Amino acid sequence: MSISIFNTIGCGAVGRSRTLTLLAFVVAGLFSSCKKDETDAKTYEVFLPSNFPAPEYDLSQNPVTKEGFELGRKLFYDPIMSRDSTIACADCHISFSAFSHPDHAVSHGIDGLLGKRNALPVQNLIWQSSYFWDGGVGQMDFIPLNAITNPVEMDEDPAHVVAKLNANANYRGLFKAAFAGQDTVTGPHMLQALAQFMAMLVSANSRYDHHVRNEPGGNMSAQELTGLQVFQEKCATCHATDLFTDRQYRNNGILNSFTIDHGRNEVSTLPEDVGKFRVPSLRNVALTAPYMHNGKFKTLEAVLEHYASGVKDSPTLDPLLKQNGQLGIPLTAGDKEALLAFLKTLTDQDFARDVRFQK
Ligand code: HEC
Ligand code: HEC
Repeated sequence: MSISIFNTIGCGAVGRSRTLTLLAFVVAGLFSSCKKDETDAKTYEVFLPSNFPAPEYDLSQNPVTKEGFELGRKLFYDPIMSRDSTIACADCHISFSAFSHPDHAVSHGIDGLLGKRNALPVQNLIWQSSYFWDGGVGQMDFIPLNAITNPVEMDEDPAHVVAKLNANANYRGLFKAAFAGQDTVTGPHMLQALAQFMAMLVSANSRYDHHVRNEPGGNMSAQELTGLQVFQEKCATCHATDLFTDRQYRNNGILNSFTIDHGRNEVSTLPEDVGKFRVPSLRNVALTAPYMHNGKFKTLEAVLEHYASGVKDSPTLDPLLKQNGQLGIPLTAGDKEALLAFLKTLTDQDFARDVRFQK
């Protein structure tokens, strides 16, 4: 595997990678060059909603251009990224479900192989500083390396993807247009183009957003407002802020023991992290079933029933879910109905139907 082709991407802090191969790939000489590509392509505006905190990703290091974004989109939809050219990113991340994988408890990749985790939606990534259920990737730009090399996802060598792209005159032209007229496709440019596409995937136009920003289209019913209140009392410590996550790793009691998947422990190796997973955002949650890292629940009703009566005890169970020796979160039938109504106000159809993000 050629390391040199990837040695100029990014200038930020490199995050943890999940495998040593990836680490070697990513770290070796990586941040030696921090000179930005000169490009006169028109900068694409990334939506920065006023109800969100400041982004974590430094857009100035990889400014989104029309050409870069469109190239990233083409790559995202192209199975050329996988070993046998059968699987595209978009096969597991489908736009109408906020780029999650509907009806799949766990992902389904190359040769029909099953992974062990539910595909996360791809949205609002520039507000995160770690990715995946266990935080195994610490830089948005490197996410595709993980998918490409994962033996049950795309099972391909990123250097070989770059070689395939270089052998394709159309792609060479598109890379040249996006990146300062260079004649060869490089690994860093491939990652930058995908990052530009992913940076644009901002979802913040749900009815709830219009409501909190006092915009037209923000009317909420009495029941939805009750749901918001219940949510703030009972859920918002973990599903915090308008990102609906405190970006921490916690165990919410879906299993008694975590044998198949150790969660955050697989990255940190700390025993106290077994069974902890990243608190997921609840944006577009009505579109992203099934739920939890292992796709355990098919419906939001089942998720609410879990919190009300199904929480399982284990050594790392979050203390918030075991107060006064009582497991779970007390919810009346009315609370559940109101919560359900509220969660549905987090659906952003402008995002899920945005033609700019489709093939
Ligand atoms: C075979 C299905 C599959 C394919 C193909 C796939 N992914 Fe994923 N993706 C997943 C799963 C499953 C997860 C969650 C993995 C985990 O947490 O360990 C994920 C996680 C992600 C995340 C993390 C989101 C977050 O909030 O942390 C991003 C972004 C992403 N994928 C982008 C991509 C890109 C870009 C490609 C193509 C290069 C791709 N994926 C290909 C299944 C897939
Ligand atoms: C102690 C922190 C905590 C509290 C309190 C909490 N959650 Fe969660 N929630 C999590 C974690 C962690 C996960 C992911 C667990 C996993 O996949 O293993 C999660 C997952 C979810 C999911 C699945 C999302 C997806 O995309 O798969 C939904 C829906 C959800 N929570 C709703 C709620 C609601 C509604 C409440 C309040 C009744 C609530 N949560 C309270 C931590 C919490």
